[in-house]
Amino acid sequence: MGIPRSWGGILRGLSAFCAIAQAQTSSPSPTSSHSAQFTVPAEANIAPAVIPNIKDPQAVDAQTVCPGYTASNVQQTASGFTASLSLAGDACNVYGTDIEALSLTVEYQRADRLHVAIVPTHIGAENATQYLIPQGYLAEPEVEEPNVVSDLEFSWTNDPSFGFEVTRKSTKDVLFSTKGTRIVFENQFVEFKSALPKNYNLYGLGESVHGFRLGNNYTKTYYAADAGATVDINVYGAHPFFLETRYFTEDADGNLKLVESYEATAKSNYTSLSHGVFSRNAHGQDILMQEDSITYRAIGGSVDLYFFPGPSQPEVTKSYLTTVGLPAMQQYWTFGFHQCRWGYTSWAELEDVVNNHTHFDIPLETIWTDIDWMVRYRDFENNPVGFDDESSKGFIQRLHDGGRHYVPIIDSAIYIPNPSNPDDAYPVFERGNDTGAFLTNPDGSLYVGAVWPGYTVFPDWLAEGTEQWWIDEMVRYYQITGYDGAWIDMSEISSFCVGSCGSNNLTLQPVHVPFALPGEPANPVLIYPEGFNKTNATEAASASAARASWSSAYPTSSATASTSYVRTTPTPDVRDVNYPPYAINNVKGALAVGAISPNATHADGTLEYDVHNLWGHGILKATYNALSAISPDARPFILGRSTFAGSGSYAAHWGGDNWSNWPSMILSIPQALSMSLLGIPMFGVDTCGFADNTDMELCNRWMQLSAFFPFYRNHNILGAISQEAYRWSSVIDASKAAMAIRYQLLPYMYTLFYHAHKKGETVMRALAWEFPRNPSLANADRQFMLGPSILVIPVLEQGATSVNGVFPGLIEGEEVWYDWYNNTAVPVPAQANTTINAPLGHIPVYARGGSVFPLQQSALTTRDARNSPWDILVALDKDGSATGNLYLDDGVSVTPNATLHAEFKVENRKLETLIEHGGWVEENNLRNVTIWGVEKANTPIKFNGKAVPPKNVHFDGDKNTLVVSGFDVSAWAGKRWSLEW
Ligand code: NOJ
Repeated sequence: MGIPRSWGGILRGLSAFCAIAQAQTSSPSPTSSHSAQFTVPAEANIAPAVIPNIKDPQAVDAQTVCPGYTASNVQQTASGFTASLSLAGDACNVYGTDIEALSLTVEYQRADRLHVAIVPTHIGAENATQYLIPQGYLAEPEVEEPNVVSDLEFSWTNDPSFGFEVTRKSTKDVLFSTKGTRIVFENQFVEFKSALPKNYNLYGLGESVHGFRLGNNYTKTYYAADAGATVDINVYGAHPFFLETRYFTEDADGNLKLVESYEATAKSNYTSLSHGVFSRNAHGQDILMQEDSITYRAIGGSVDLYFFPGPSQPEVTKSYLTTVGLPAMQQYWTFGFHQCRWGYTSWAELEDVVNNHTHFDIPLETIWTDIDWMVRYRDFENNPVGFDDESSKGFIQRLHDGGRHYVPIIDSAIYIPNPSNPDDAYPVFERGNDTGAFLTNPDGSLYVGAVWPGYTVFPDWLAEGTEQWWIDEMVRYYQITGYDGAWIDMSEISSFCVGSCGSNNLTLQPVHVPFALPGEPANPVLIYPEGFNKTNATEAASASAARASWSSAYPTSSATASTSYVRTTPTPDVRDVNYPPYAINNVKGALAVGAISPNATHADGTLEYDVHNLWGHGILKATYNALSAISPDARPFILGRSTFAGSGSYAAHWGGDNWSNWPSMILSIPQALSMSLLGIPMFGVDTCGFADNTDMELCNRWMQLSAFFPFYRNHNILGAISQEAYRWSSVIDASKAAMAIRYQLLPYMYTLFYHAHKKGETVMRALAWEFPRNPSLANADRQFMLGPSILVIPVLEQGATSVNGVFPGLIEGEEVWYDWYNNTAVPVPAQANTTINAPLGHIPVYARGGSVFPLQQSALTTRDARNSPWDILVALDKDGSATGNLYLDDGVSVTPNATLHAEFKVENRKLETLIEHGGWVEENNLRNVTIWGVEKANTPIKFNGKAVPPKNVHFDGDKNTLVVSGFDVSAWAGKRWSLEW
């Protein structure tokens, strides 16, 4: 649970308590404002405060005190070289114990990948995970092309200490340079620093809730945290990869000159070159982006860098994704609309929600349940009240008959039963425990934290039997309730108390979490979005009165800000994992707050400290294998919250706990663009907002915006007002209008995904990537592209009826944009920033000239959309040309046995379609071909060289649109067909 803003004060304001990874000896107070149930004291989630190093006035800058290293003993290898690094002076031991001897490996692994690794020379089995990512979590990239020639060049110096540089040979541009700085390598602290050009354009470094282009004065912290989709803090996932784009001018001799300041320019004739850097370090860390440098400071791990030369964004992305794992191919149905909420109370209520969508003709593909389906919030056991086993069967059957799907939430923590209550049996726990599937305390006892069901244990993905136990539990539950995908939550891994707080308190089970759940009496009245008071004055007044009375009854702040901080002085060769000497800028303060403690212990002895950021990846991998065991041929559909580099190969991701407000909606665009770069294209956010109440206007705009995100789900918090699209008539209309476009475009979206999965292309795209020669788009994140051909310019402001947008490229007259709704080219002034009329219910969408879209008809489910006739839409560019493509298969299989690939090409008034049959028989007619941008249609129009009867031709000279109909299914059967006009 991210802490909804309205709960934050309560949770933040409680006094200190700490028990890290040991039994909590004090008994929880038996008082509870909720019921007779014991409530874990709020203090249980408070630990002594730490001051983040980057904010600590007493902090020592390692660069000023550490000696760095000296390289020697260089040995050539087949793919590069190795060298020894030894400490270049007295140890500084600034945030740990200096490692005296290091080994450097430089490897050209592929033409597009340079690997630079620095690790302690002596790594033993017992300390390996302090420095290296366990193979059990993530395979290490290896040399794939020995003796390869690369455009990247590695050089090094010992002056004044060891430093290295990575240069782009063809341009002599230095991409990364630690020269002149010190490498610091200690047992709890690794620092290195590279120079960057002024005003650099850096992207990625997710998971971040931040503008698309990362700031030049911003610290990105990695420590997976359940803290809500909050700006500029460490959130759920860790992807330490960045893309950097540099813009250059070119002189007559072809020499490039870096442009450092281009804010004001709208010209689009620059050369842009991009490269990527992946730091394969899973430890907690701060990455400091400063005016002209980037500094990595990790509390463990090693220097493990991968450089990708690009030189374009698509090439960088492809290189990165083929290194960490290409995105999973999704089933076709997952692109339909998903409805979810925390607070659906029964199968019957779910069925009502489904029926209401049908009643209002709103497409709905999947209905989801939150933790309400579980009995007392325990994984894999249906709540007999409302969600009984038997009724689940009929419910799911009816859903499937209607072409729909069901996805339940599955939480990461496992309830541990009350040993003194024989009625509290929980076989899921027993079976896991028998397997040794759970994390322990250092003394070998079970580590017991607290999540929704009460005190819980946590799967240990490094223990041998855990994955099989998880698979078995998922299979067992599937036999009771046949779900279609899995939603994995709380996987940071979240725990609502510090340390093993339940160890000595299990006889109190089931206990209540240390805060009031939404909807419980002590919970604050939820607030409405900005502008609600303008559009809904009466309701706003009564909501604010209710809130005021709640505030006086439940004051939110009971503690004063801490003035004393824990500062750890390093002890030689001893690691303090609970309070490491270097304090990262963790939003929760001490590492043990809100998550299992750093000294929770894995079966192989690895401490959670060393693998914290990988736990979420582990559960996704295990869940992937579980779904594969259930349906071996089907592509697993998983929505995961905590992710690491490479998780996109297993799962989709949502942006976590956002708020029902306008800023959350705005930020969803850069969140999605960043996830595109990081290899999780199946991304969306809680549409209409998760925490607090939404309102009609926000939900209207948001349902339209998310319709153009790959993953499209409406979800909200327990206790908030209902926000299904059918709750407001204007939202019904707005949703249907946007969904009609989305569902028509499903074949386009699916084809984009196929390319993402096969080649590492992106689905949602930034303008800067599609128009790389225009630096004024370097930070454009209020509009976006879906693939290369759809431009979306949403309204993101309360009360607005128009939006300022940019039509890229048009200043030079090189691009044509067609308004999706009136099919005509947009008359755009020769300037960026055009005001577009966009009253409520209208989302401006444009087709890029030069595109061919294979479309099907909108329907209430993707199944029905897939069974509808085809239209081919051609949007001509300024030269009358266009291209496009289509990929089809059964939409389900991991290895489809039948496929179809079509290429569309338009030149000189002729559309040619080339079809490669891989056994897929398309049974739906081609209904018509529509061409936008036709100034004059020659007659007769010819299909495969033969005249088309005039009754099948319609030309609208005002709109420059030609529509040709009268085809049938045979258009798909041959190898090619053509249309001339
Ligand atoms: C936290 C998740 O982020 C949210 O989506 C979910 O509703 C709650 N947990 C309750 O399960």
